[in-house]
Amino acid sequence: MAYTVRKLENFSDESIGAACNEAVNAFAEEVSVIRDLLKSSDVSIAKKNEALKAFRDWWFARKTGILTQFNDTWLKAAPADRKRAMGRAVNELRTQFEMEGEKLEEKHASLSSSLPADRLDVTLPGIHRPLGAEHPVLKTMNEIVGVFRAMGYSVADGPEIETDYLNFEALNFPPNHPARDTQDTLFVAGQEKKPQRDRLLLRTHTSPVQIRAMLATPPPIRVVVPGKVHRADTADATHSPIFHQVEGLAVDTNITFCDLKGTLDHAMKSLFGSNVKTRFYPSFFPFTEPSADVQITCFKCGGKGCRLCKMSGWIELLGCGMVDPNVFKFVEGNGYDAGKVSGFAFGMGVERITMLKYGIDDIQLFYQGDVRFLEQFA
Ligand code: DAH
Repeated sequence: MAYTVRKLENFSDESIGAACNEAVNAFAEEVSVIRDLLKSSDVSIAKKNEALKAFRDWWFARKTGILTQFNDTWLKAAPADRKRAMGRAVNELRTQFEMEGEKLEEKHASLSSSLPADRLDVTLPGIHRPLGAEHPVLKTMNEIVGVFRAMGYSVADGPEIETDYLNFEALNFPPNHPARDTQDTLFVAGQEKKPQRDRLLLRTHTSPVQIRAMLATPPPIRVVVPGKVHRADTADATHSPIFHQVEGLAVDTNITFCDLKGTLDHAMKSLFGSNVKTRFYPSFFPFTEPSADVQITCFKCGGKGCRLCKMSGWIELLGCGMVDPNVFKFVEGNGYDAGKVSGFAFGMGVERITMLKYGIDDIQLFYQGDVRFLEQFA
């Protein structure tokens, strides 16, 4: 604070004006120094407080501040006929300085309250958010869906609580088919009064979405359905009461068993490597005729026979077949005329495929959430 109030030699307008100019310049210079200091991030808040207080005391202190000295040194000393002019000049200085001073105080208050929160300390270690990873079952499911999407299939889903009608009847399950037995199927309780077809159950497979898809979309259709299914099974190393399937359905004019074989052969090669061979082993499902189990050459022993393939050289992977004309009867109204269209369907267990792909021998590992197991797939 270099500025001090000097005595005036005379009180002419020029002399008052020159003295006021000196004061204004000195004040402006100090304000700019303080302003820079307040803005600087290298100066601590305590130092800024201190500098601002020194500035405030020097200029505005009641007894000894510069503003008070203007009164004492200039105004009191002015002769009676110059008091008015001197008084006006001093008042102007006071108003101007106080305004500037207030601005500085406000600036400081807002900077010091926002600084600690807003300040970015680039030397702090970052917040480490470990990336989540796809669960191996979902990873395989997405991979399977991806293979079919690449062939032009769309993706659909359906509810896990399904009617007996869609889960069984429309899929050509005869009324007393063993799959309808409560040993395999989890029914929603308290529905004995309803007709059988309306009773709700936890879907035992993703196949009911075949019907839902055909009801929603007239032919041609190519769709895959990933989803969760439920069975009244006791959990063990190869069974789980909840597991996942991917269903597939293609219906068009002139779809043949050849198309089914070509499609699934391509899918299996995409999933297990181009070296695997497929074979179609006769089987039975109520909603396909003919039906087959798809087997691939054991990718572990290459077909020679090992523990994985139970010495057969082949591993069974999924069920498939040509859509039974009886199934089309349930969706006839939407353009599925068994005389005009044909199609194939397939369904695979995602856990089983994942276990085979990665050599996992206990299905329960998928559901226990043990990070040591899961992080191997990250
Ligand atoms: N839904 C059958 C099951 O859960 C799997 C299946 C077999 C689906 C043949 C199909 C199929 O679409 O054509 O065991």
